[in-house]
Amino acid sequence: MNCSYGVTAYSCKWWVIEMALAGCWQTFTYLKSTASISVQTVRIVGGSVRLCTRATADEWEGLQAWRSSSVDERRFWGPKNTCIQPSTFTTSPPLNGSNCPSTLAEWGALVLSTSDPHLKASITHHAFRLWSNHQLSLGTANAPDRPARPEKPILVPLKQVPDVRSSPLPRNAHALHILAHIELNAVDLAWDTVVRFSGHSHVLGRQFFSDFAHVADDESRHFGWCCQRLSELGCQYGDMPAHDVLVGEGQKSAKNVMARLAVVPMVQEARGLDSGPRLAGRLVGWGDVRSASIVSRIAEEELAHVAVGVSWFLEVCKMIDRRPDTTFRELIQDLNVELKGPFNHAARQQAGLPRTWYEADLGSNKVEKLASDSEIEFGHTRMANGENEIENNVTINNCDSTDQSRSASLDEVYKRLELLIAMEKERAS
Ligand SMILES: [Fe+2]
Ligand SMILES: [Fe+2]
Repeated sequence: MNCSYGVTAYSCKWWVIEMALAGCWQTFTYLKSTASISVQTVRIVGGSVRLCTRATADEWEGLQAWRSSSVDERRFWGPKNTCIQPSTFTTSPPLNGSNCPSTLAEWGALVLSTSDPHLKASITHHAFRLWSNHQLSLGTANAPDRPARPEKPILVPLKQVPDVRSSPLPRNAHALHILAHIELNAVDLAWDTVVRFSGHSHVLGRQFFSDFAHVADDESRHFGWCCQRLSELGCQYGDMPAHDVLVGEGQKSAKNVMARLAVVPMVQEARGLDSGPRLAGRLVGWGDVRSASIVSRIAEEELAHVAVGVSWFLEVCKMIDRRPDTTFRELIQDLNVELKGPFNHAARQQAGLPRTWYEADLGSNKVEKLASDSEIEFGHTRMANGENEIENNVTINNCDSTDQSRSASLDEVYKRLELLIAMEKERAS
């Protein structure tokens, strides 16, 4: 959209400002009311007003504490809360010197090629403990096309996964089985991120890999809690079919770290923030308070995973000089990943994921472009090479959002990433 109000007189600049502000007050108020858009400055420059808006994401306040926390050994769900594993359970994988990986990336590749889900979880925890104790270097490894899976659960198309009415399991166990499957997929996807992008550590830095190994460890603990509770209910993981959608979405984002961050932590993990509290409420309604406590705890811990994804997404956007909000939406559309509500806006906002990034209505042409294109200028007077350039109109800058322009824009993202990686490689060598 491009609007000109035909404002003509430089001498009438204050009148222009007042009229412009009055005319756009509704838009201004709307922008201010949306959680993700902060009106950063209203500046008077050379007699003109420049109103700058920018889509922002505030980092989760607990992120640094999560990063510096010690390895969580409370992998068992005690009478009321998490606790250290009883001695009857082991957390060490049965590995000896000959088959023992020597780097974090190799450990990740081992997890991905391990089909036994409980062994997968235990290797994950062991590897993260070694990494946190500075006993491993990062290294590099190749990620398999898809992670190894056990014979059970049988993987079926999403529509063939039994719903609560047709489930062979009681409804609380049915819900926990679905959650256990999500957690196991999350273990693999976090490790896949570590392993697949391990060759780009010179660009991404050590903290990136540390964060996603940490996420994998959290997910392996969540998987353990779900399995423990399933077992207490007389069931086990594998007792009903499951789907393969999450791995499929992970594969879509295998070639590009920004796509991976957008699809996995910022879409898949964020769904956990939406659905976790609802599921916990349902379990309480069904009289299973113990399962509800587990689910609530998992939902709380998912906040860090979304936050870490947003933080790295912003970091990579900064590296390649891209707007994060429009880039996120373009990637999601390009990869055909669905953003499904209802959304838990408060939790998403807390994790640093602004509402206009993911909510379709706010992403419509009407408002999206005002939000995303950052600058509304009134009676713009620009100083250039010592001369006054007077632009005698009121312009709202916008960019076209056709598929063609989105595709061109994504090409540019990929090119800039490639260039950045090439430059860093050259610098490193
Ligand atoms: Fe989880
Ligand atoms: Fe998670």
